[in-house]
Amino acid sequence: MASILENEEWEEVNNNVNANETISTIDLFSDQVFNTPKEACEYMITQYKFDVLNICSQPNVGIYGAIKIINYIRYTIKQGGNSSEINTIINKFNTTNFMEGLKEQFLTPVIPNDPLILYITSSIDAFDEFSDDEDDNDESDDEVPEFEDEENVTNDNNNNNNNNTDESMEDMVERFNQLSTNAKENMFVQMKAVHDENLHLKEMLKRCQGMLRSLVANDDNNNIASSTTTTGDDDNLNNSDGPDNDTYYFDSYSHYGIHETMLKDKSRTNAYKDAMLKNPKLFAGKVVLDIGCGTGILSMFAAKAGAKHVIGIDMSDMAFRAMEIVLKNGFQNQITILHGKVENIKLPDGIDKVDIIVSEWMGYALVYECMLETVLVARDQWLKPQGGVMFPNSATVHLGGLSDMAIWNDKVNYWENVYGYDMMCMQKDVLQEADVTIVNPKSIFTPMIPIWDLDIQTIKPSELDLVATFKLSVQKEGQLIGFVISFDCDFNEQCEVPIVLKTGPDSVPTHWKQTLVYLKIPSKMLKVNTIIEGIIEIKRNEKNPRFLDIKFDLEKSKDLLQVDKLGSGDEEKNSSSSPYVFEYQLQ
Ligand SMILES: C[S@@+](CC[C@H](N)C(=O)[O-])C[C@H]1O[C@@H](n2cnc3c(N)ncnc32)[C@H](O)[C@@H]1O
Repeated sequence: MASILENEEWEEVNNNVNANETISTIDLFSDQVFNTPKEACEYMITQYKFDVLNICSQPNVGIYGAIKIINYIRYTIKQGGNSSEINTIINKFNTTNFMEGLKEQFLTPVIPNDPLILYITSSIDAFDEFSDDEDDNDESDDEVPEFEDEENVTNDNNNNNNNNTDESMEDMVERFNQLSTNAKENMFVQMKAVHDENLHLKEMLKRCQGMLRSLVANDDNNNIASSTTTTGDDDNLNNSDGPDNDTYYFDSYSHYGIHETMLKDKSRTNAYKDAMLKNPKLFAGKVVLDIGCGTGILSMFAAKAGAKHVIGIDMSDMAFRAMEIVLKNGFQNQITILHGKVENIKLPDGIDKVDIIVSEWMGYALVYECMLETVLVARDQWLKPQGGVMFPNSATVHLGGLSDMAIWNDKVNYWENVYGYDMMCMQKDVLQEADVTIVNPKSIFTPMIPIWDLDIQTIKPSELDLVATFKLSVQKEGQLIGFVISFDCDFNEQCEVPIVLKTGPDSVPTHWKQTLVYLKIPSKMLKVNTIIEGIIEIKRNEKNPRFLDIKFDLEKSKDLLQVDKLGSGDEEKNSSSSPYVFEYQLQ
């Protein structure tokens, strides 16, 4: 097996390792702490006649199996292992089929950065490299100089026969650390491979479900002798299924593209960077939780700002990339990345509360995606009640009146004549869906007014739906064709240098752009100082709370509107109960 790290990279990693440090290691069956993993292994041989290294070196195990074995034992013992369970475990590993029942779940470490896993996987890795070399009959010292050393380590461990008596303790620790780093890299790669396989299996499962559904649908169709499609049923199956929504959501974050877009959004990423790096006093020595860490970028900012320990959590497979990125950039002693859903995850042992929660949870119109709910779950569970800081700590949604007939012609009237064809039926969709686009500030003829202030330190999950009245004062004569929604976020709690992230039409465009909704027909011509009054609702969609339902009730401004001019052919546009109520979906 070829080394994952090139020589240059080896050197880079080794510079980060303190060759003199001992690595406290807990043995598998008790709480005894040893100075090195090797000592823990030797103790288990003497005390329990259990040679874990030997077991993990069996040909049917491999690195991935070794990780499972160690986590399986740690997990079982943690569940309350007594001496009879210890014997059961030991007996299990005396049988030939001991890998049976060691499920994928045991890839998740019970002890973060478990030195025993690092030691054992690096020893197996060294053994594999040596074996490959032997198989290839390649005896060139120039090409594989390190194999000789690694062979000694393996023989030493397997035969309990110390061939390294001349090697100083310092050299041994350094060599061990090199192997540990290599093993850690290997672990990430192995875990990523398993998750890629899982993704593939999930995809296959989806396809099978689809095939099963169409079989059932065909059966139904045959039974009722109808040629109608079963789209409605399909929708129900998809949408009523909560976990399915989650699967689509997290799969989308497993792809690099979405992270590239976010990282390249300089207004967004620099706002977080500045908020942390310009407030080092806030971060110095603190424990920070990064909710939805993605590539780990915010975790690394927090670490650079001086945080003592940062824990990044992400449910998407991007968490595995974050692990690699953290290691590559030398933050492995400061940042722990956990793969899992925030709602189900357990923080590393010894961490019950954190000082700061950093998260980039914002969606279109601020609350699309509904990730804020997750952040509040984390806040209520882990943020220190006294002095704990949410980053950002507040957000504000703004609303403005849209008046630009060029936009109306481009978005709505466009469908009247498309290459000579009437596609007016498409208008219904345009008029029912919110449009995420960058709008020129000149197209807005009222001030952008705040309609919703969210105090992230205190807001409750039940307060994440908005119903608000608004009054917009026309500043420039024109017709109202719709509304614009944008938001700002503040980082100012306990900050010496407050930072604001702005996404409004007057700011540098961000990947959130602005959210636009269109009336069914432009209003009358409105004079300067006319007041447009109404009620806005922004609510989580019942079927899929990650989507938004947006509603404008303009009953109070009905004299400004000309919905009465909607002709009889416009019933399509008149889907709501009242002609003055306009409903949209953001999905
Ligand atoms: C908007 S991205 C931010 C990524 C990263 N923090 C950044 O700033 O580039 C949100 C991330 O949160 C993750 N996420 C959302 N809800 C989550 C949950 N309930 N548990 C774990 N991760 C979650 C997503 O998978 C996604 O990677």
